[in-house]
Amino acid sequence: MATERTLSIIKPDATKRNLTGKIVAKFEDAGLRVVASKRIHLSAATAGEFYAEHKARGFYGELVAYMASEPVVVQVLEGENAIAKNREVMGATDPAAAADGTIRKEFALSKGENSVHGSDSPEAAAREISFFFSGLELVG
Ligand code: CMP
Repeated sequence: MATERTLSIIKPDATKRNLTGKIVAKFEDAGLRVVASKRIHLSAATAGEFYAEHKARGFYGELVAYMASEPVVVQVLEGENAIAKNREVMGATDPAAAADGTIRKEFALSKGENSVHGSDSPEAAAREISFFFSGLELVG
């Protein structure tokens, strides 16, 4: 298995409820390492650019407004098979469908306010990491 990096976002519903530490602990317990981290408040323009691939979806406006509503914590997680591992620890997009022990099962409020985002492929991880971080900010 290869060592990979993936982008994780702790979303507004979770930062608002002070769940950052509990969520990071789940990733660390699964063997992922935080190699970059910052708390930022996204503008609607930046959130819209990040989620541009969803522009045609009915929930796009709601998603952009939500992501810009409160601070988020953006992180790069590193580890063996990090992209798949991160998605496993997050659980299904809809908390009602998420497996026991996953972040979304435990913390997410709805399909939209689902506490975390994680890259879904190596191509997305590369794009999303460079969207938020420069190479100098990644400290393995
Ligand atoms: P994320 O992994 O960040 O990628 C796209 C996001 O769109 C997804 O998590 C959800 O938060 C959001 N999303 C997906 N489906 C819906 C939906 N039906 N209604 C609102 N938001 C959604």
